[in-house]
Amino acid sequence: MTIFSGIRPTGSIHIGNYLGAIKNWLDLQDNHDCFFCIVDLHAITTPFQPNRLQEDVVRLAAFYLSLGLDPGKSTLFIQSQVKEHAELAWLLGTIAPFGELARMTQYKEKSRQLKPDQINGGLFYYPVLMAADILLYQTEAVPVGEDQQQHVELTRSLAQKFNRQFGQTFKVPKVLIPKEQARIRSLRDPERKMSKTDDPRGAVSFLDSAEEIKANVMRAVTDSEKGIKYDPEKRPGLANLLTIYAALENISPSEAEQKFADCSYRDLKEELSQQLISFIQPIQAEYQKWMKQPEKIKAILEEGRAKAQPIAQKTVLQAKNKMGLIG
Ligand code: TYM
Repeated sequence: MTIFSGIRPTGSIHIGNYLGAIKNWLDLQDNHDCFFCIVDLHAITTPFQPNRLQEDVVRLAAFYLSLGLDPGKSTLFIQSQVKEHAELAWLLGTIAPFGELARMTQYKEKSRQLKPDQINGGLFYYPVLMAADILLYQTEAVPVGEDQQQHVELTRSLAQKFNRQFGQTFKVPKVLIPKEQARIRSLRDPERKMSKTDDPRGAVSFLDSAEEIKANVMRAVTDSEKGIKYDPEKRPGLANLLTIYAALENISPSEAEQKFADCSYRDLKEELSQQLISFIQPIQAEYQKWMKQPEKIKAILEEGRAKAQPIAQKTVLQAKNKMGLIG
């Protein structure tokens, strides 16, 4: 299968990004044709600092590499380096129903959080650019967390509509969402998803120190019930801790529940902190090594661009021809 996915370069990634998306990517890269992108054009739809963007791109690439994405197996590249992403986004935008874009949950949520003058056209157009990312490579499957499912569904409907209207051009991709880790919740507010930008104390970031990880996990909001039970509906905070623990241990949440059956919340949080620290520290060490070799990172991304661009060019040419544009 051809696989495509991406992450916005926003400083650091968190354990939600890893469990919701990257963990799946690592399994897929052994047997599939994978494209993993650094989506910098998406990052500029919300407030950002121009003087930090390039470094954030390199940082995210360093995380991709330290977590085990292998440039020998997967194509790693920067979205804005392949200008066909913006070009196809424009073409697809002309068939994207305005009403459907206005109904996108992420757009509505972000618009609520931002100041009125920060809500820009790019934020509204975001899902169309994402559809272009995916469709350019004739992608068959898109491994993402649950929050991106709606965008992948829009991508499918845009591909189907284009094919119907102008003739067969795009493969219609399916979404790949992990069973239990699709939505890692904020440690501070289990009603919300974990997000570093919404509340850094609710997230376990890959750049956090051992002390920060421990402090955030120990203060995680749970409930006032007794006993350790995996019940995502009634006890979402506790279920979230068990989910993270289980996913890192490669066991099911109910096996984690059994393991902690006779423990207190405190015991569980202590064990989870230790587990997270021992998981993250070696990755941080790798990350530091990569960050000392920015030229090597840039060469890997350039190699990725050189592999991705001809495929993207071919698809854009087909789409333009089908629409009657001069290619
Ligand atoms: P982004 O950068 O917000 O997140 C990257 C990936 O991490 C997943 N994720 C989570 N999974 C579980 N629990 C969480 N709390 C959590 N937070 C984030 C996301 O679902 C995502 O898979 N629009 C996308 C980036 C993108 C993309 C694409 C993805 C652009 N083009 C094409 C796939 C295909 C985004 O902003 O993800």
